[in-house]
Amino acid sequence: MKTNFFFYKKKYSIDPNGIVICKSYSNIALIKYWGKHNNKIQIPLNSSISFSLGKVYTVTRLIYKEKKKMNLSVRVFFSGKEKTSFLPKILEFFHRISFYCSYLRYFNFIIETYNTFPHSSGIASSASSMSSLALCIMKIEKKLVYSLKEDFFLRKASFLARLGSGSACRSIYPGLVVWGCHQSIKGSNNLYAIPYPYEVHSIFTKIEDTILIIDDKPKKILSTKGHKLMNHNPYARERFKCANKNMNRLISILKIGDFQEFGELIEHEALTLHAMIMTSRPYFLCMKPNTLNVIQTVWDFRKNSKKNVYFTLDAGANVHLLYPIQEKTSILKWIYSDLFSYCKKIIESFCLSN
Ligand code: DP6
Repeated sequence: MKTNFFFYKKKYSIDPNGIVICKSYSNIALIKYWGKHNNKIQIPLNSSISFSLGKVYTVTRLIYKEKKKMNLSVRVFFSGKEKTSFLPKILEFFHRISFYCSYLRYFNFIIETYNTFPHSSGIASSASSMSSLALCIMKIEKKLVYSLKEDFFLRKASFLARLGSGSACRSIYPGLVVWGCHQSIKGSNNLYAIPYPYEVHSIFTKIEDTILIIDDKPKKILSTKGHKLMNHNPYARERFKCANKNMNRLISILKIGDFQEFGELIEHEALTLHAMIMTSRPYFLCMKPNTLNVIQTVWDFRKNSKKNVYFTLDAGANVHLLYPIQEKTSILKWIYSDLFSYCKKIIESFCLSN
């Protein structure tokens, strides 16, 4: 597919003032996106798949007002306070997408946004915020083109969200979502995400995700910088091959319903992501001592109890614990008794189903 498929070609005609509101969930990748093409905009070097998460989301209100001068004009408010520090990223996003949404230049925009979780804490706040903003913009486009079809709306929203933050393109859909071209996944592509198109065993339709906030301060390594470092990481090629193989393995695991295999795969993916971060130049360490305490406690507990509880990580110190809903009562009890002391906060979330 060519990117010009997403051009908005017509002249605009719309109410001069208005407000659109959208909500978008955060997501946690099972197979991680880490590394993007050097000379292309937001094109991943391997395909990734994530679960969108219930309870952790961003709500964005986009207020637009017609203006005379044709330039981009945006103000951003986060949880009621103006945030000029968010402007460079948002402006870059608007610049990138204005090519596909020419109408943006006719308005002044005020973005009002809030999260249900701490921003820059390792929970993908850029994913849910960029995707909710992309959905808002598509709502404006829908006002311009009444006949706009639902699947085009979502595809273009995902395409736009990707230009804001790669993982954001997966937050457009609930459930399991794939982004990046993979030979075994029909319809998968680098420009926008798609809902996972194959059979999923019922065990994977009700998974809890308890998020252990180990560190609620902004991340030291920003993803965008981390991705770039993959271009010179000596292990990068092997990593991309491995991610590709893991996707094939995951397709059969999701069909068969083997939770143990699933868990081992996601833990391996999480640790591989951190191995890449640790072996980049400059190198970083995103885990904190309590991240390791949690991981060790999870492994010990699993060995003794034979329970299905596995972890995954983003590019931060926090830990996501994934387990089937059937185990919720006993595992939550164990989390609060054995892991609570390692955490700043615990967020009881769950994986949304398709
Ligand atoms: C570790 O999507 O935040 O969460 O495209 O530069 O905005 P940019 O990066 P971002 O990277 C997310 C990386 C990850 C893994 C994942 O979500 O797949």
